[in-house]
Amino acid sequence: MDQGLLATFGLKGRRAVVIGAASGIGRETAVTFGRAGAALVLGDVDEAGLAETADRARAAGAEALTRRLDVRDPGAIQAFADWADAQGGVDVWANVAGVIASFEMVEADTAAFDRILDVNLKGTYWGAAAAARIMSARGRGSIINTSSTGADNPSPGLSAYSLTKAAVNMLTRTLAVEVGPKGVRVNAVAPGYTDTPMVTHRFRGPDGGIDQARKEEIFAGRAAKAALRRTGEPIDIAMAMLYLASDASSFVTGQVLRPNGGTSMP
Ligand SMILES: NC(=O)c1ccc[n+]([C@@H]2O[C@H](COP(=O)([O-])OP(=O)(O)OC[C@H]3O[C@@H](n4cnc5c(N)ncnc54)[C@H](O)[C@@H]3O)[C@@H](O)[C@H]2O)c1
Repeated sequence: MDQGLLATFGLKGRRAVVIGAASGIGRETAVTFGRAGAALVLGDVDEAGLAETADRARAAGAEALTRRLDVRDPGAIQAFADWADAQGGVDVWANVAGVIASFEMVEADTAAFDRILDVNLKGTYWGAAAAARIMSARGRGSIINTSSTGADNPSPGLSAYSLTKAAVNMLTRTLAVEVGPKGVRVNAVAPGYTDTPMVTHRFRGPDGGIDQARKEEIFAGRAAKAALRRTGEPIDIAMAMLYLASDASSFVTGQVLRPNGGTSMP
């Protein structure tokens, strides 16, 4: 393959922030960005998971710095952004942190509602805003937010989760038109059902172990709904993140990319 073309899909010489890098899609995204040549600045509320991700990225040849960050605190996000910028600037910023809880609207679970909005919506909003400030001053950069198939399709119990993801799509578009003239791109990745701790916690028994038979049954049901007849792996989502982070997508902004195996085609 032509080396110049290959380099366009890479992140050599770039610094990439990944928030929510301690697990699942965020971890795979961080390691993938590292494999693509980026220096990494990783944040998450889970410090042990963050250290494990950094070890994996370093094993793949990447530089990686970590710092605890709770995205429910906008001041902490700004402090994290300032620290990341002080490392020599930020070229890519991926907001991947997220939480889920299932409850029907009539249950009026105000605590779960607030928790989901604080992390998925406000955390993404303030993270994207902090990144946009840094990148606007530099005149370039790529911001990637994490949406979901749920943004387009209602599911019983997921009103709070899905509305945050629909809002992420709109904040992505709005920020794209605000900072596009400054050379900054803003996109979202909306994964389909992907095998990570976020979904597997539902199949854990009282001892913490995964009920494999139950997991296979649920995953088979999800796979049957996908045109490609399979569920997602974190690397499927990380590759979409890499495309949006790299110069290969230099004319792409304000878009929602949906690696979902063909479950939802809005
Ligand atoms: N797994 C799926 O099927 C799926 C589908 C669609 C969208 N998503 C989205 O992908 C993203 C990653 O999910 P995942 O499946 O990898 O889940 P995960 O649970 O494996 O990872 C989520 C990460 O977010 C971090 N986090 C949670 N609260 C935080 C906070 N307050 N501050 C900082 N970090 C915090 C967690 O510590 C964890 O490392 C989420 O935004 C999720 O909504 C996942």
